[in-house]
Amino acid sequence: MRKPFISGNWKMVGDSQSSVALAKAVAEGSAGIAGERVDVAVIPPFVYLQAVAKAVSSSAIAVGAQDVYFEAKGAFTGEISPAMLKDVGCTYALCGHSERRHVIGESDELVGKKVTAAINGGLLPILCVGELLAERDAGKMEQVVERHLRTGLAGLDAEKMSAVTIAYEPVWAIGTGRTATPQQAQEVHQFVRGLLAKMYSKDLAQETRILYGGSVKPDNARELMAQADVDGLLVGGASLKADDFLKIIQASV
Ligand code: 13P
Repeated sequence: MRKPFISGNWKMVGDSQSSVALAKAVAEGSAGIAGERVDVAVIPPFVYLQAVAKAVSSSAIAVGAQDVYFEAKGAFTGEISPAMLKDVGCTYALCGHSERRHVIGESDELVGKKVTAAINGGLLPILCVGELLAERDAGKMEQVVERHLRTGLAGLDAEKMSAVTIAYEPVWAIGTGRTATPQQAQEVHQFVRGLLAKMYSKDLAQETRILYGGSVKPDNARELMAQADVDGLLVGGASLKADDFLKIIQASV
């Protein structure tokens, strides 16, 4: 069955010292269960990836990048390739985080190219999908999530798709303190799994991990994880405090 997967997206917060200290505290505090009963990843800013990867190298904590570019190399000022991320110890890469889509302006097609490039470069992409509040209120949640999923996975065969984790992050729940209810999360996760079954196969849909993200805290993690189709959590703010993140990890096993 699907092993729980808890990941901490640190976003653009911290410095080299605090990043390494946080990574070490997570590794120490989750020793014994990380890797065994739950997969754990920390996702620091690009510039701290190497130091964080070194700090957790003797633990089961994996490291992820917050973004990745789709080209292998060349004149793409400011971008980072899949090979570069692998080179500094990354296993995962977020693709299409809502802040990339809605603050930076990434298109669905660009996100799809990143997912494919990440896989081809040996990374495990975490494809983020999720609707804005206005889209939910307009009854368009399913339409938006389906579009994010289909364009995000465009061109991927089943073998490549098996490298992908999906993260459902309703934009209205990110950093707002307004978590989706466990029932709302379950409803969308079930919808996503159903789509994967249609696009690929029932087996692949059953094997794919679908994470929930958006104001996850120690006091709501257990109830979210108790939902049948919630396989893990993508945590923002609460992943910046070792104690809170460790409580969330504990709540998932
Ligand atoms: P918060 O947990 O701070 O709401 O952030 C969620 C998120 O965007 C994780 O990627």
